[in-house]
Amino acid sequence: MPRNPHSVVAIYPGSFDPITNGHLDLIQRGSRLFDRLIVGVLRNEVKKPLFSVEERTEMLREVVQVYPNVEVDSFEGLLVDYAATHAAKVLLRGIRAISDYEYELQMALMNRRLRPDIETVFMMANEAYSFISSRLVKEVFGLGGTITGLVPPSVEDRMHRRMIKPVST
Ligand code: PNS
Repeated sequence: MPRNPHSVVAIYPGSFDPITNGHLDLIQRGSRLFDRLIVGVLRNEVKKPLFSVEERTEMLREVVQVYPNVEVDSFEGLLVDYAATHAAKVLLRGIRAISDYEYELQMALMNRRLRPDIETVFMMANEAYSFISSRLVKEVFGLGGTITGLVPPSVEDRMHRRMIKPVST
């Protein structure tokens, strides 16, 4: 289908290892604001992820299928180059707390330097999710804590299948 040349395409990039309810909240907000939202999973050979890129994109697709203007894809290389190949003018990032700001500001300014025509837009997820990170979800789950309500149920199921809980001594 031909695309409207005036429509605003946004990329929501990240590792999503795994997707949390905070990410999902941001995707929902982004889907209302932009004509097309592409969730871009970074292919990063350096980080040792819990889930492969294929598994992460599959998990994402399961939960974003309710939003018709949201797609899931993966990318490697520079984010701004990936955005440009999709004619995306916006990079969407979530900010949870002031501690996120420094890293996000650095990335946004570097991306602006690389491609001044692409804007980074920061959004806040619902405050109920402001403490959630993929890293903490994995840590808590790995140590036997509950992650119900922190990640979508389909992701929680997958984590149960994936991780062997430590046996308490
Ligand atoms: O969820 P994350 O791990 O905080 O996401 C980081 C991500 C994927 C947005 C960032 O690492 C990235 O954009 N990587 C792609 C490579 C790149 O463009 N680097 C320069 C960014 S300033």
